[in-house]
Amino acid sequence: MTAFTAAVLALLAGASSSSAQSSSEHIWASVGWVLHGERTPLFGATPPSLTPVGAQQMFAQGDLLRTRYLSRFTDSDDDGVDRHAPIVGIEANAIDNTQLSIITNTDQYMVTSAMAFIQGLYPPINQAFSENSGGMAAAQLANGSVVNYPLGGYQYPSIRTASILDFESVWYVRRCTDIQGMAVLTHYNRIGGNVGCTSYTESLLNFRNDTIIATVYNNTINFYQNLWRQLLNKAFPQSMANFGNAYLLYDYASFQYTHDNETRENITEGEMNMMARFAATEQRNKNANLSVSGSTEGDMIRAVAGRTMASKTVALFIESIRSGGSTNKLNLAFTSFEPFVAFFALSKLVVGNHAAEFKPLPEPGAVMLFELFSIGGGDTEFPSTDKLWVRFLYRNGTDPGDELTTYSIFGNSETRMPFNKFAKAVQEFGIGTISEWCRVCDSVSLFCQGLSSSIGSGSSPSPFAGSDHTGAVSPAIAGVIGAAVTIAVVGIAVLAAILMGGIRFHRADPKARNTTLGGFKGAEKMASDTDIAYVKSGSRHERTGSWELRGGGKETDVKQSVTHADTPSTTKVGVTVQARDLTHPSKKDIDDDAISEMGHSPVDPREF
Ligand SMILES: *[C@@H]1O[C@H](CO)[C@@H](O)[C@H](O)[C@H]1NC(C)=O
Ligand SMILES: *[C@@H]1O[C@H](CO)[C@@H](O)[C@H](O)[C@H]1NC(C)=O
Ligand SMILES: *[C@@H]1O[C@H](CO)[C@@H](O)[C@H](O)[C@H]1NC(C)=O
Ligand SMILES: *[C@@H]1O[C@H](CO)[C@@H](O)[C@H](O)[C@H]1NC(C)=O
Ligand SMILES: *[C@@H]1O[C@H](CO)[C@@H](O)[C@H](O)[C@H]1NC(C)=O
Ligand SMILES: *[C@@H]1O[C@H](CO)[C@@H](O)[C@H](O)[C@H]1NC(C)=O
Ligand SMILES: *[C@@H]1O[C@H](CO)[C@@H](O)[C@H](O)[C@H]1NC(C)=O
Repeated sequence: MTAFTAAVLALLAGASSSSAQSSSEHIWASVGWVLHGERTPLFGATPPSLTPVGAQQMFAQGDLLRTRYLSRFTDSDDDGVDRHAPIVGIEANAIDNTQLSIITNTDQYMVTSAMAFIQGLYPPINQAFSENSGGMAAAQLANGSVVNYPLGGYQYPSIRTASILDFESVWYVRRCTDIQGMAVLTHYNRIGGNVGCTSYTESLLNFRNDTIIATVYNNTINFYQNLWRQLLNKAFPQSMANFGNAYLLYDYASFQYTHDNETRENITEGEMNMMARFAATEQRNKNANLSVSGSTEGDMIRAVAGRTMASKTVALFIESIRSGGSTNKLNLAFTSFEPFVAFFALSKLVVGNHAAEFKPLPEPGAVMLFELFSIGGGDTEFPSTDKLWVRFLYRNGTDPGDELTTYSIFGNSETRMPFNKFAKAVQEFGIGTISEWCRVCDSVSLFCQGLSSSIGSGSSPSPFAGSDHTGAVSPAIAGVIGAAVTIAVVGIAVLAAILMGGIRFHRADPKARNTTLGGFKGAEKMASDTDIAYVKSGSRHERTGSWELRGGGKETDVKQSVTHADTPSTTKVGVTVQARDLTHPSKKDIDDDAISEMGHSPVDPREF
């Protein structure tokens, strides 16, 4: 019973340093939020993509979860810590996609991160076939031969990629809420109508007005300008070298510091650490300042990424509970850091005893885990909801020294809490429905328009609505599906028209740009271009949200920039579709998700 005593002591201590489970526990489901692995900089010579280092990080993290959740063993490793907490009934060797839910957005480094992670979770293995994929019967031929999957039994995960036209993306990877999402915002505006969380973006426009921020800005301007001369001038205009772009600058510098020998002569480790600290401060203010409101007083608009993320965690658990534990055993979402930063604030982790661990930005590959478990009882029957507990674990990166650690959240004294209490705590701040997201964000996403016109806002189903789910599609969901179908149909119609040469989109004449607006890098860049940087490779990166755009009397707000977008819009079936020049090769590289989004199939209602 010493393990039990230790567990009790750990609970009394408020937060424990061990992720061990006591042997009477049964884990029924887990929801993991995984930060993508190391990638090339957002603001670099090439589009951001997963590096080999990043892939190794993801693989290692997947492997760690394999040890925790899939291993049949419960013995201790050398150091006496039990790292096993197997999920009841999950396939240990052969991937069973019906037990998993894996989602990313459409960023290539995100999708590839997910793949590398799953390779660690379910490595190739010959002669392993899960029952739900047909088992041995499907692998065997009539004459008795067994056919393996290629590459020594490679396993094929079903990874869902949610584009911004897919309302499912609201829960996971609201790219309008991240710094690069800020960049992507205008990009989206070109392809599908003003998609994004408008309230959030507007709130960021006031970022610099805060006196605390202004003071930090003033105190760090020399630091950044100095670094610009040393290093950052390779990628940034001088006007961007300031605290307002702390994350973007750090993102670039840390990549160079890791990979480029010469960079180490120009920036010290101490300077790198300072950049990291400032980046974290900036992002905590942009994504975790709970006192800033959007359209409604107290709506915590900046933390929207954490509010949706927490609600979705509860919804995924409810999904698993409704299925009696047969689906959603392991749920993985691959995201950027914003949901982490926002949730650390919402859960009060950033102000608690462990503030020092939750103030820095998470390292690549960091993972937040929520585990649904019962204590005592058997593992043959799924327990009733009131016997279920939830705990939160965090691993801040993938270094061998980083431990998966249990923390108490919401100011709780224990590291575990009853599921019902957890759901209630999340409900306090969570965003539980698409229509609520649309309202809070004041979003004009196509699916928000569809939602409000077909059912009126505020009436779509909540993931908290109890567990009396019958499997029927409610009118609200039907409305959403209808909207999605409309989007798909309109998209297909436009795509077909383009392919058949019926519609052709032209770049507006560049000379028609307003040449009275000055720009960085001389005449190449007009303010009306919403900040487009041409880089060596010829691909281009767009961004908004740099202070350069707003400061210095050159006010260019995001909406205004959009009206200057260099593609015309086409009206079709009563829906405005802003199209882009598909014939322009460099644009194809950047906007490739636009094409797939057009034909995106409607969403499986079970996903709610
Ligand atoms: C069974 O059939 C497959 C394909 O026709 C063939 O490749 C394999 O050699 C056969 N195995 C035996 C044991 O005959
Ligand atoms: C913030 O400052 C900008 C100018 O930099 C100004 O246009 C805007 O109105 C200010 N917002 C608030 C809320 O004071
Ligand atoms: C949040 O923002 C408000 C208003 O901009 C500011 O006064 C406050 O200091 C910020 N809080 C934190 C924790 O940064
Ligand atoms: C920051 O510096 C600017 C210009 O030097 C000055 O106008 C402003 O008052 C300063 N703000 C703070 C908060 O120190
Ligand atoms: C380092 O600084 C020197 C001189 O300031 C410059 O010539 C060199 O290109 C810089 N190296 C890098 C990697 O930025
Ligand atoms: C950079 O590379 C050169 C040659 O490969 C090596 O001599 C030097 O020590 C390296 N510098 C650092 C800081 O690693
Ligand atoms: C991550 O957590 C480990 C402890 O598990 C700690 O030693 C390390 O300093 C942390 N790293 C960062 C970057 O916070």
